[in-house]
Amino acid sequence: MGLLDGKVAIITGGAKGMGEFHTRKLVDEGAKVVIGDLDAENGEKVARDIGEDKAIFVELDVTNPNSWDTVVQKTKDTFGTIDILVNNAGLAGAITGLLDIEEGLYKKIIDINQNGIFYGMRAVLPTMVEKNNGSIINISSLAGLRHDITVNPAYTASKFAIRGLTKQAAYEFADKNIRVNAVLPGAILTPMAEATLTKEQIDDVSQNLLPMKRFADPKEVSEVVVFLASDKASYVSGGDYVVDGARATINK
Ligand SMILES: NC(=O)c1ccc[n+]([C@@H]2O[C@H](COP(=O)([O-])OP(=O)(O)OC[C@H]3O[C@@H](n4cnc5c(N)ncnc54)[C@H](O)[C@@H]3O)[C@@H](O)[C@H]2O)c1
Repeated sequence: MGLLDGKVAIITGGAKGMGEFHTRKLVDEGAKVVIGDLDAENGEKVARDIGEDKAIFVELDVTNPNSWDTVVQKTKDTFGTIDILVNNAGLAGAITGLLDIEEGLYKKIIDINQNGIFYGMRAVLPTMVEKNNGSIINISSLAGLRHDITVNPAYTASKFAIRGLTKQAAYEFADKNIRVNAVLPGAILTPMAEATLTKEQIDDVSQNLLPMKRFADPKEVSEVVVFLASDKASYVSGGDYVVDGARATINK
């Protein structure tokens, strides 16, 4: 018996990085998963590897509401319903200061990380309201809790905004038995982290910034996502779940 037997999930950015780990873990726990991602090559590969009776890939640009309509329809046509949405797709961009970030990049990060989560919740909520049940997990960041020196201002702004949108939706849909929570990962070793930081920076951050002296394995975040998606979390809504190995306890 899995924690998510019989449930159907959409996971954005599920083609690689942490999203791929969430996809595999949710399937292990019995869920059927629709991977929504821009990256068709990796997304198709992950779905094939898992088995298309349990996971399918649908091309999704989280910044495009029409693209969301397609994913919602395809999910219902294939697996019958939507119980879980994991809004995980994100873009970090290079580390810059407020005066250095290029305006186009600032807007792009806000569009993917922040607006994409709004479009996603807006697309799945009618289905969840109809069935009087659902769990939405929005992936924020430790950078959405306090300033983080390893990111840029657009990333910080978008990850704070995700927590606000989470609380708005959690309150509005609480009486429809729809739970909405934010997960705030700290330093997780994914392709995004490896593309943003050099090997030397990863070692330096581990030794000097991380109380556990290591980055997390993405699986350590997937465990929290599964819990929040499951009926075990039946009274858990509107919260911020920090997965950072105690980093937020220190001010650096
Ligand atoms: N890696 C970390 O240390 C860390 C820490 C805190 C929070 N996070 C957050 O966790 C999430 C996943 O991070 P990751 O490190 O696995 O990233 P990643 O870059 O490895 O994967 C991101 C995925 O999102 C997809 N994506 C990007 N733009 C998209 C769009 N417009 N539409 C659909 N899909 C799109 C990419 O194709 C990719 O598959 C992000 O929201 C990130 O901000 C990561």
